[in-house]
Amino acid sequence: MKHTLIEQAQQVLRRNDRGTYTVPTHGLYPFQWNWDSALSALGFAHFDEARAWTEIDTLFAHQWEDGMVPHIIFHERDEGYFPGPDVWATGRTVPTSGITQPPVAGFAVRRMFEAAIDKNLATERAKALLPRIHAWHKWFSRSRDPQGSGLVAILHPWESGRDNSVDWDVALARVPTEGVEPFTRLDTHHANPAHRPTQSQYERYIWLVQNFRSLGWDSTRLHDASPFRVVDPGFNAILIRSCADLAELADQLDEPEIARQSREFAARGIAAMERLWSDVHGQYLCLDRTTGELIDSPSIGGLLAVFAAVPADKAAAIARRIDRLGDVAKFLVPSHDPSAAEFDALRYWRGPVWLIVNYMIADGLRHAGQHATVERIVGDSVQLIKRSGFAEYYSPVTAEPCGGVHFTWTAAMVLEFLAQPGAMA
Ligand code: DGY
Repeated sequence: MKHTLIEQAQQVLRRNDRGTYTVPTHGLYPFQWNWDSALSALGFAHFDEARAWTEIDTLFAHQWEDGMVPHIIFHERDEGYFPGPDVWATGRTVPTSGITQPPVAGFAVRRMFEAAIDKNLATERAKALLPRIHAWHKWFSRSRDPQGSGLVAILHPWESGRDNSVDWDVALARVPTEGVEPFTRLDTHHANPAHRPTQSQYERYIWLVQNFRSLGWDSTRLHDASPFRVVDPGFNAILIRSCADLAELADQLDEPEIARQSREFAARGIAAMERLWSDVHGQYLCLDRTTGELIDSPSIGGLLAVFAAVPADKAAAIARRIDRLGDVAKFLVPSHDPSAAEFDALRYWRGPVWLIVNYMIADGLRHAGQHATVERIVGDSVQLIKRSGFAEYYSPVTAEPCGGVHFTWTAAMVLEFLAQPGAMA
């Protein structure tokens, strides 16, 4: 069974391979997405190291001059996706979106470098990527943390990757809808509308895009101008972890200045995360930077915080919380607390399980020594695949597959999970 799953996962990666980049899935997402790509490279690394490095190289070939790495690269025309390059209008030769996504590349590149069989290739590719990833991290610090708080804000729900999380409801309600140019959604032609964000959320997503476009995509202006500015513990944990991993990689590649600066970013971030802790929920929460208030929404973002090296007592509390969630939902880890009123088992990030987040949470908990919870998360992840295939996401209650099918990063995570000792007989 393990062997079959590995073969199937490799087939999904091959099927979505467009030569130098992969699409997350045919139809629904026909271009290159930022964090999808970096996490998918981890899957390729199990059977084609050169192809894995190319995935990340292609992503960084489209980095902006200011250091930002866009969330979508529109390599080819495809009329089946909205909002396409004309809506973004970022003026790039190869069109891209104008916002970013969770910066997992630093983590992925260190992992690929250390696991590489072809050390020469890995050294050459990692050395070239190192300053580029560092430039992205510095861009975050300048453009998304202008007050130097140690934590960065996302300016659009799409930047978090958790598009319609309950976390954004209040802040997104402040985004107006007047002046939104008429549009037709296409995502609902490819996936069940009941699994996708609502029309009212889409109108606000597009208002933000139009607003940033009217500012010429100038990232020195976007932060203060955006009505949506949220500090997400999950997003920040990914950035902190990537900075810490980049520091380790820089040590190994003899780049002491990148190592020093990256360590400093990570240390400041970890210290600042404590402002987001909630004793009531036993997890971290988002902070609304517009109001200065914590957002009372117990979502998976605050559990993903454990991907960074948070204090041991916080990691233990998160493990306990995940165990409790597992007693309510059947499959870990639901993207929102099943006992909360807003929980929706099938709707994108308002309840369903996502294997990429399971993977990062499990990795963080393993570092924190929380092995029993790790086993439970890995076991549930493998069960979901066995029952429901390589879906985009799954109901935590019934394992129903949701969203797109033949999903690249789901397949990549399966290869990562199954490579762990004792993951499955
Ligand atoms: C989408 O189109 O659903 C994406 O999440 C935006 O990046």
